[in-house]
Amino acid sequence: MANVVVVGSQWGDEGKGKIVDWLSERADVVVRFQGGHNAGHTLVVDGVSYKLSLLPSGVVRQGKLSVIGNGVVFDPHAFVAEKVRLEGQGVSISPQTLRIADNTALILSLHRELDAIRESAAAGTKIGTTRRGIGPAYEDKVGRRAIRAMDLAEPDTLRERVERLLAHHNPLRRGLGEPEIAVETILDELVSVADEITPYLDRVWRLLDERRRAGDRILFEGAQGTLLDIDHGTYPFVTSSNTVAGQAAAGSGLGPSAAGFVLGITKAYTTRVGEGPFPSEQDNEIGQFLGEKGHEFGTVTGRKRRCGWFDAVLVRQAVAINGIHGLALTKLDVLDGLDELCIAVAYELDGERIDYFPASPAAQKRIKPIYEKLEGWKDTTAGARRWSELPAQAVKYVRHIEELVGAPVTLLSTSPERDDTILVRDPFED
Ligand code: IMP
Repeated sequence: MANVVVVGSQWGDEGKGKIVDWLSERADVVVRFQGGHNAGHTLVVDGVSYKLSLLPSGVVRQGKLSVIGNGVVFDPHAFVAEKVRLEGQGVSISPQTLRIADNTALILSLHRELDAIRESAAAGTKIGTTRRGIGPAYEDKVGRRAIRAMDLAEPDTLRERVERLLAHHNPLRRGLGEPEIAVETILDELVSVADEITPYLDRVWRLLDERRRAGDRILFEGAQGTLLDIDHGTYPFVTSSNTVAGQAAAGSGLGPSAAGFVLGITKAYTTRVGEGPFPSEQDNEIGQFLGEKGHEFGTVTGRKRRCGWFDAVLVRQAVAINGIHGLALTKLDVLDGLDELCIAVAYELDGERIDYFPASPAAQKRIKPIYEKLEGWKDTTAGARRWSELPAQAVKYVRHIEELVGAPVTLLSTSPERDDTILVRDPFED
């Protein structure tokens, strides 16, 4: 399996940055296949910290090709801002190191505005989005009226595309009591940035096929997590893309047989940002302990994350849906010092024990986690690089998780430092 697909197996923020950084060093090509600049992670390379939202992790490493696939929604202005910021840190980004799929749908200012208007409006319907315009941009893509990156290179047809888009948005804006937008306004917004984008455009499906045939190692970098998937997540409190491993193929144009090893990044406890169900949430001193010790604040929005116990039901479901071959278990050290740990192993629904997370929001409200209790450990796991350096109870906790979710730990991360990792198998060598 020469290629690796990395996905989050919970609600995002599982600590993908460090793992993706480690894997991107071994990869030749790094591909984003869904989401947009709602993602956020910090990479630390040679002691320098880089914050990435839209760009694939490969951009901060010399000699890698980074690819933004068609499954991404691409904000051209956010791209330019991120590029300028990284260039200020000495990172060189050019069409030699980055390619953008010509069929990628764009995020425009009207999408950002609409996202914010909806989020600020009716109480009770709030999703808690990142307000980056992600949802409205995907809506236009599915509605077959999106402006796509290739349209920037075709000024003659761009006007037609914008007219078509505004024929949908202006009535919607009128209904929301917002001023209408003139065609020229959107054209100016796009034309002002077109020259900065068009040199990067490519037939990514062909490029990836060539790279695959040449034997290059391809890393597919998923954003968000399985429970934020538009189909498989806690709908409607989800993001607007498919975040699961299957999307690596559709969102890049490389067929699914090339996907390779699916690595599920999994936090040793659970967090989520934004609204929505969270069965094992601990809105108490345990949650506070996890949040403080784990520095659980969003990279993109700075919001405090909700925290709770590890939920084996959800991760078991994610293992099945993604076809996860192995887990990268992160932040085990955050649990150091707790007397007792709980793991949700099933739920009770209307007096019955169930071993899955129900799709119905009404049922989701009624479920109660059934916990198994495990003894905690006093010694630290932070910085461990061998199983023998871990307290016996910590090893027991990890082994129990493997058993409950039905996937082995491929990699165990014991601190934000790169080398503080116990590697069981190299996913690229599997
Ligand atoms: P959107 O993706 O901005 O539409 O937000 C939809 C939901 O996904 C909200 O609950 C966000 O908090 C969540 N979300 C989006 N991106 C991320 C991420 O990278 N990490 C964690 N949660 C995210």
